[in-house]
Amino acid sequence: MRLLTILTTSVILGLVYAQDVSLTQVRQAFQAARIPTDASVVFNPSVLLEVAFPQATGPDVRVKAGVQLPRNKTAIPPTFSIVVNGPGRRPRGEFVVAMVDLDAPTPQTPTSAQIRHFLGGNFTPLRDRGGLALLSNSTPAVSGFLQPTPPAGSDPHRYVFLLFQQSKAFNGQTFVGPTTSVAKFNISLFAQEVGLGNPLGGTFIRVGPDSPAA
Ligand SMILES: *[C@@H]1O[C@H](CO)[C@@H](O)[C@H](O)[C@H]1NC(C)=O
Ligand SMILES: *[C@@H]1O[C@H](CO)[C@@H](O)[C@H](O)[C@H]1NC(C)=O
Repeated sequence: MRLLTILTTSVILGLVYAQDVSLTQVRQAFQAARIPTDASVVFNPSVLLEVAFPQATGPDVRVKAGVQLPRNKTAIPPTFSIVVNGPGRRPRGEFVVAMVDLDAPTPQTPTSAQIRHFLGGNFTPLRDRGGLALLSNSTPAVSGFLQPTPPAGSDPHRYVFLLFQQSKAFNGQTFVGPTTSVAKFNISLFAQEVGLGNPLGGTFIRVGPDSPAA
């Protein structure tokens, strides 16, 4: 009975925190959440990007596109991997990863969106482990990871991760530096300025504010 409970629990958790396995499902999830429109990006993924949030205890939380996560599961900077045993082509070279909040301060009035929660380049895939190639970056991020922090009372925000093939211009870019405000960012404009093209892949999470203390 106990074993059955444990098995059932892992199956349920496995479903909740399973990674993406289908490019079509990811594309449809982006469409359903109006992300291509709201972020002004063309999103026809050819690569499955896996985002995983390490936890202080227990297994990483692997992101399935559109999943809502408790804020306290997003505290530790996520890792990025490319799924290499699933659908999609196996890309080569160097990659840029961005994470943006489309809904700040609220989805109804996103006047300070996008908030740049991460922007990093020079990511290269490490050797496959279990069908995943971990992306490892050789240089510090342009914009370090910021934990989702929607204000009290807000509906959950959409936090979008996008993977781009890195351009020659990326490492010399001056559009975003250490002192550039993270607010009012535009990933589509940045991609244009730096010549990144359309994203190769991506995923997203929803995170709401911490519930007020009782
Ligand atoms: C994380 O937040 C959830 C509610 O969103 C709460 O139930 C849970 O106890 C929290 N976990 C920790 C470790 O604080
Ligand atoms: C972001 O930039 C794109 C150009 O790439 C533009 O079409 C879009 O209107 C911009 N979004 C905002 C909110 O300014």
